[in-house]
Amino acid sequence: MFITFEGIDGSGKSTQANFLKNQLQNDGYDVILLREPGGTIISEKIRDLVLNHRASSVSPLTEALLIASSRYQLVNEIILPALKKNTIVICDRYIDSTIAYQGYGRGINICWLNEINKYSLMHANPELTYLFDLKVEDSMLRIKNKNKDRIELEGKDFLSKVRNGYLKLAKNSKRFILLNAMDSPEKLKNKVYNYYLNKKNENF
Ligand code: TYD
Repeated sequence: MFITFEGIDGSGKSTQANFLKNQLQNDGYDVILLREPGGTIISEKIRDLVLNHRASSVSPLTEALLIASSRYQLVNEIILPALKKNTIVICDRYIDSTIAYQGYGRGINICWLNEINKYSLMHANPELTYLFDLKVEDSMLRIKNKNKDRIELEGKDFLSKVRNGYLKLAKNSKRFILLNAMDSPEKLKNKVYNYYLNKKNENF
């Protein structure tokens, strides 16, 4: 199974992705947890360029293409071979981040982004996506003291567009599970696992 975790900054998705990975390993499965952008040597270098490059401005299109290149490498080098071996793949952010951040956030044409995603995905489509939703104000509070990356520095209006974009995506696709990121980590952990079990039973 291919599972992705999505949400605006500070939503706690990375913690929950880790919980699910540990749970599934305890259940006896082979599991890998990846993050995007990143996950391969070259993709981590692209991550550094996209998130830490402050020397000059980075155009939205450059940002989108760099992220797509990083994804293409990750899909070919890690995700597809893992899925072939029946390893469960969990990815902290994936295609929906591109639609939410570069599409709804930066204003890049979404049809065009979908087209690019089609090439970089090679049919590696997630079957289950958890969206951790929280208000922009709560997100800002949670990341207040964090050393922010280039995209996190964009601020409230940008984040608000990203959040609304995510909510639209979740409304239009059955693979999404919408969760309230303000719930306690323990409650969220149980929900995430139970939704996974439901999905697994559906697949049988
Ligand atoms: P994040 O996953 O939140 O990592 P950390 O917990 O280390 O802050 O940060 C990744 C950043 O990359 C986040 O600001 C969103 C951005 N991003 C995009 O803009 N588009 C994408 O397609 C992806 C995968 C990430």
